[in-house]
Amino acid sequence: MDNQTKMTQIEEYVFNLFKDDETGHDYFHMKRVASMAKKIAKMESADAFIAESAAWLHDIGDKKLFNKPEDAIDDMYLFLRNINFSGSEIKQIDNIIRYISFSAGHKKPLTIEGQIVQDADRLDAIGAIGIARTFAYGASNQQLIYSDDSDSTSIQHFHDKLLLLKDLMNTNTGKLIAKERHQFMESFLKQFYSEWNLIHKK
Ligand code: NI
Repeated sequence: MDNQTKMTQIEEYVFNLFKDDETGHDYFHMKRVASMAKKIAKMESADAFIAESAAWLHDIGDKKLFNKPEDAIDDMYLFLRNINFSGSEIKQIDNIIRYISFSAGHKKPLTIEGQIVQDADRLDAIGAIGIARTFAYGASNQQLIYSDDSDSTSIQHFHDKLLLLKDLMNTNTGKLIAKERHQFMESFLKQFYSEWNLIHKK
């Protein structure tokens, strides 16, 4: 099986797992992260096959998304072995996915491919699509859009996490793309607060 065929199989596997997600982690998120990881890997002369494969699979086993994360991961390895991924390729993908899905803190992943997948995932959390995903995620967790009296709103998530991401990019390509998306989020927030304060200012 050639690499292109393997990638098509992965896409189908991921489609079936995430097609009905309503939390901002749907199939299209995986597709964007995979395509961005491939693009960055080429710019950074990294292993594009490993980066793209791991990017497609990066949210499998995320505790927020799976009731039985370890089972989901075991199933994925079985699937990868069935489509002839080598032991060493699976190990590289495993390192990336475990880091991305289960990490706390801002430690850099070990491999360049891991750094690339992390950048691609973070890029999808910012900019216009990042904004849309933030409110989808908030709604799926019964969070308010915004309130002057609460710290667990979707708008607060921008300050807690999203506005910090541009300075956490690993690769130069990631930094460049993050810059523009960051500026867009800042102007969105400015407009949001100006509309909000017209009515709600205390
Ligand atoms: Ni993700």
